[in-house]
Amino acid sequence: MSKLIYVLNGPNLNLLGKRQPEIYGRETLADVEERMRKKASTLGLEIEFFQSNYEGALVEKIHEAREKADGIIINPAAYTHTSVAILDALNAFDNPVVELHISNVHKREAFRHHSFVSGRAEAVMAGFGTLGYELALEYFK
Ligand code: DQA
Repeated sequence: MSKLIYVLNGPNLNLLGKRQPEIYGRETLADVEERMRKKASTLGLEIEFFQSNYEGALVEKIHEAREKADGIIINPAAYTHTSVAILDALNAFDNPVVELHISNVHKREAFRHHSFVSGRAEAVMAGFGTLGYELALEYFK
């Protein structure tokens, strides 16, 4: 049976392609999902793709992943830097977690340098643009 990877996206990522394209690029989240689905099928993986602007919705999706997912790729967006709730939910998930950022957060404002998620994640990617989503799948092949 192929592995199921949950791909979770936090607030404002629904605006990908329109929001600060000089930082996040011109691809939409739907484009990212389509490319990931193609890449996943070449790697023999399945993905569940999800975005929410709400912290609690992301927490509940991580709870759902506890029962279903072999791994999580998460771009927690701004919640990266603020959310103990998302960290706690990920700590209750037993399989590997990859944290992903489109931009290189370490090159940006100081408040983006701290991540609550990084100490839980098996791997962290930042600065590969939207290509990072496909690259992150390689972790689970
Ligand atoms: C982001 C970086 C975060 O600091 C920011 O709040 C985002 C997106 C990224 O993908 O580069 O919304 O996670």
